[in-house]
Amino acid sequence: MDNVLTAKSAISSPSDVKEVATFKRLATRTETEQAGKTVTVYVDDQPVEMQPNDSAAAAVLTSGLRYGRTTTVGNSARAPYCMMGVCFECLLEIDGIENVQGCMTTVQEGMRIKRQHQARELSGR
Ligand code: FES
Repeated sequence: MDNVLTAKSAISSPSDVKEVATFKRLATRTETEQAGKTVTVYVDDQPVEMQPNDSAAAAVLTSGLRYGRTTTVGNSARAPYCMMGVCFECLLEIDGIENVQGCMTTVQEGMRIKRQHQARELSGR
């Protein structure tokens, strides 16, 4: 798992990622976290190690990427902002489902998270 990024490695090894976030984890809080259990998710196909109760939005930020989507008009970068389900700036494609609020979605082993760029395709669903 040499190429798996953790929050610590993403920050301490900026050459591993194109963009470097300035986020770092606070002190360990739960028994699961203290036991060192992790969940591997994939952000734009790059493996990222997260703790079991982290959100998909946190995975994007932990991966070192500075934004999770771009706007439909103007292609401006947007990143998770409120982290509590209010602003909708964290919309992501999660396991093939578009426009999912990343901050309200808990990571699962093997979860595929993709950033969204500009307008979504109409699916007819
Ligand atoms: S970060 Fe605001 S709704 Fe997700």
